Formats: sequence, structure tokens, C-alpha cells
Amino acid sequence: MGIKIIGTGSYAPEKILTNHDLEKIVDTSDEWIRTRTGISERHIAAPDEAASDMATHACRNAMEMAGVSPDEVDLIILATISGDKPFPSTACFLQRKLEAFNATCFDIQAACSGFIYGIEVAEAMISKQDSKYRRALVLGVEKITYLTNWEDRNTCVLFGDGAGAVVVEKSEEGNSGSRVLGSALFSNGTYTDILDVPAGGSAKPIDEEVLANKEQFIQMEGKEVFKLAVNAMVGACKEVLDKASVTSKDIRWLIPHQANKRIISAVGKRLDLTEKNVYINVDKYGNTSAASVAIALDELVRSGQVERDELILLTAFGAGLTWGAALLRW
Ligand code: UT7
Repeated sequence: MGIKIIGTGSYAPEKILTNHDLEKIVDTSDEWIRTRTGISERHIAAPDEAASDMATHACRNAMEMAGVSPDEVDLIILATISGDKPFPSTACFLQRKLEAFNATCFDIQAACSGFIYGIEVAEAMISKQDSKYRRALVLGVEKITYLTNWEDRNTCVLFGDGAGAVVVEKSEEGNSGSRVLGSALFSNGTYTDILDVPAGGSAKPIDEEVLANKEQFIQMEGKEVFKLAVNAMVGACKEVLDKASVTSKDIRWLIPHQANKRIISAVGKRLDLTEKNVYINVDKYGNTSAASVAIALDELVRSGQVERDELILLTAFGAGLTWGAALLRW
């Protein structure tokens, strides 16, 4: 028993912020951003546009492709670090907007790896013997720019908003046909402090000092994160490939988390993949955290660049640290 993806969808807010726009806000340049990250522009959600609004668009697109109506969805697993409110879950806000009232709904918090975590959780819940779940929406969504310090050039040039979703369904085809072939998830809490929002939770509630120090926003030790990211994603990919008894030569597409083109290229090279096997759209979206892999998957599918039975390897890395990989047969 397993699951297969039967629809994909994504959404990016209308407003685009280019590198040239950022040159007017902080001491940076289009040249620095493009050469160090590969990013040219990113989408920014409107002030009144919540994570659940973006998620609603992405999920409707995915459900339309899958031919699934809201009342046929019985599980919503939403990955985010920038949800509508501290609670209730953004998945519940999404449920209301979609009118998917038969679904059990919850959020996952695994930062940029959240979507891949969601795939494994959905598979476990749907594949369980006598499971009541058949069909799930799994999605990543971020309004991460509300956590961005627009005075910090180290981070504000990196992030963008958006949502990506898939509809997954119990696979009845045994070992053949479209399905999730395997996944592996990892965490290492030793590094909680190299990429975080220092305040705004129970450890450090927001007060005047926090606001003065801008500790309610993302801070990152970029170089340290960079070094760890490449090794971690390569390791996760190799584990998933080994378990499925395939090699990277069998992979049609690698879709890595879109944080930095240099990281993506390094992961591709270490896996012996050529450029034409590695999907990159970080130039247009920046780092959309939990949404990035799902947005890229949707773009790839809708552009007709993937054929039935081809293998797609997803991998991500993010704060926590968290990382993982998932292998799909399309
Ligand atoms: O999604 C979760 C995972 N996140 C990631 O994977 C991000 C990982 N890290 C990275 O992508 C890269 O480390 C960054 C893009 C964040 C930074 O690139 P880097 O090559 O590691 O640069 P750096 O931080 O070492 O900075 C090099 C220089 C510094 O100046 P000095 O000290 O050498 O004079 C920075 O102050 O570049 C400077 N700098 C900038 N200059 C212009 C940093 N940010 C900027 C900027 N514009 N926006």
C-alpha cells in the first residue's frame, strides 16, 4: 500500500519585488544577489493576504487537476512557519475557506523541509491498515516576508511568499504506476540557533527590548547553514535512492529546496546529475521556505516536462535543523 500524487497546484502573490527594488531599501546590488544566490525577484503577499488565502488558491488548483471536490478531501496537512495566527492551525483556516469539512486538519512545523515532512506523514496516515483516510491535501505555504527584517541585507534579499500543494491518494496499483517510492526525514536540534526567529514565542515573548533589537524577525548565520545544507541534502537523497534500489542515473528530475542556486548546483553535482536534471526556479521566487519544493513541482508538472513513470527526487533543508528527501514515480 502507498500513496500517489494526483494533482499539483501553486500560487504566488501578484506583487513582485526585484533586486533593483531592494537596492533602494538596503545596501545591496542586483549583481551581488544574483551571483551569491541566483535570485532576481520574489513575490510579496499583500498586507491583508494571509497564509491561508495563498494556500486556498494553490489547493484549488491542485484539486482541479486531480478532479477532487472539497468534500472528498479527508486530510489536510499544512506546512508553514508563517501561519495566520499562533493558533488555531492554518490548516483549519484553510479548511473553512475551501469548505473541506470532511477533513482532519493540522499544521506541520519543519521550516523549509515542511512539505517533504508532510508527504511522509500523509503516506504513514493513509497507508496504515484500516486507515479512514484516502485522500489528502499536503501543502507548504509561507508569508515569510512578515518575518523579514527589511533593514538586514543578510536576510531580506533571500525570501519570498507563496504556496504549493499536492493532492495525494491511496494507491491501489501495488508496486507499479505512480506512487511515492520512499522518503527519509532527519533533524538535528544542536543547530537551533543558526537560523531562527529569536523572539515571539514562549521562550522570549515580544516586549520593547525585543522590538528594539528586531528579534521578532529571521536571523541566520548564512555561511554555516550553507555548509550544512549541501551535505545534509546529498545524504538524504542517497539514503532514499539506496532504499529504493535506484541510482541517481535513474532520476529524471531533482527538485531541491530553492534557497540558493549555488547550494542547488552543489547538490546536483554531488549526486552526479547534469544541469538538465535539476529544476531551478529560485530566480523568480527567492526562498519560499516550506512552499518552495511544492511550487517547483507544480511548475514542472504544468510545463509538461515530466512524463509518466519518470522518477522525481525531492529534497529540502531548513531551520531546526530539519532535512529530508522523497522519491516519486510520476
Ligand atoms: O532555507 C533555509 C536554508 N537557508 C539557506 O540554505 C541559506 C544558506 N546560505 C546562503 O545562501 C548564503 O550563505 C548567503 C546567500 C546567505 C550569503 O552568501 P555568502 O556567500 O555566504 O556571503 P557571506 O554571508 O559570507 O557575506 C559575504 C559578504 C559580507 O561582506 P564582508 O564581511 O565580506 O565584507 C557580507 O556583509 O557579503 C556581504 N553581504 C552583502 N552584500 C551585498 C551580505 N549580504 C549582502 C547583500 N548585498 N544582500
